[in-house]
Amino acid sequence: MTLPEVDLADPALLSPLRWEAETGRLWLLDQRCLPAQERWLPLARYTEVVRAISDMAVRGAPAIGIAAAYGVVLGAREGAPLPEVMAALSRTRPTAVNLFWALRRMEAVARAHGGDAAALEREALAIHREDAAACLAMGRHGAPLLPPGTVLTHCNAGALATGGYGTALGVIRAAVAAGLPLRVLATETRPFLQGARLTCWELQKSGIDVTLITDGMAGHLMARGEVQAVLVGADRIARSGDVANKIGTYSLAVLAREHGLPFYVAAPRSTLDLATARGADIPIEERASEEVTHLGGVPVAPPGVPARHPAFDVTPARLVAAIITEAGVARPPYEESLPRLLGVN
Ligand code: MRU
Repeated sequence: MTLPEVDLADPALLSPLRWEAETGRLWLLDQRCLPAQERWLPLARYTEVVRAISDMAVRGAPAIGIAAAYGVVLGAREGAPLPEVMAALSRTRPTAVNLFWALRRMEAVARAHGGDAAALEREALAIHREDAAACLAMGRHGAPLLPPGTVLTHCNAGALATGGYGTALGVIRAAVAAGLPLRVLATETRPFLQGARLTCWELQKSGIDVTLITDGMAGHLMARGEVQAVLVGADRIARSGDVANKIGTYSLAVLAREHGLPFYVAAPRSTLDLATARGADIPIEERASEEVTHLGGVPVAPPGVPARHPAFDVTPARLVAAIITEAGVARPPYEESLPRLLGVN
């Protein structure tokens, strides 16, 4: 499998990360400020990357992995002990497996090159470039699956969540570029509003027809025949094909089944976790309840009311029609098709 060539400086990729080699700084598009403000954060220390991932200045499974890889480079340049750097980065967010996948790649390079910062920088850039290339390849493989009409997506699995171009939104970009008449319904994605703030921002910027709905409107619109397919990204996919993704995804998959709609997942192979047998074994991040009781810092619930905040849920493999990767499209039974895509048994 050969991935397309990618120029990370290409503005059409909309990459949320930029490595500035001359100064050794990582620039991150601060996703907490979008869509109001396009603010780029210059990071020079690995602890700043740790904070940026935890606080979701950078988010989305592949982008988290790429940011962590650059974080290791910053740690090496600072002369920080690399096991400490890796441990701090690995404690940031538990569900997105791309984080641990990227750290393993960096650790292998650190071992082979005695922690040499230049070798680590080359590897981080390779991880970044390969992810954007994987998104372009996913677009090629996934676009033919989409029917004309309206595709519903949840959270943000776009350029902003990746090295550039996007997974689910990459497939949508490729389908639109191929001339498919397509509209996108974006769920707002409570509580962090990745759909309202990020998916709408990046699709508008790319001239793709997008309409915002609240999470609770999806079933109504499906029942009226206003949705033709559901397409989302993933944070971790178990060997069984069970998919962990943003909270609310499972409900959409159940609704899609009820209404006879295909439910597709697009994710790079770095999101496949064959070491985890089933979705029930995937660690689900619980975030602060204030992110639920408050909206943009403003309380929307009475003071003191307890609130739950599981940030992800698991969609069982039986509800997933296909998993689109850069190496091709996997169909059930996933226990067979996913290892084949990874070239393992
Ligand atoms: O909490 P987030 O914003 O990091 O969650 C992101 C998602 O759930 C995305 O759908 C997933 O990471 C796929 S990104 C290509």
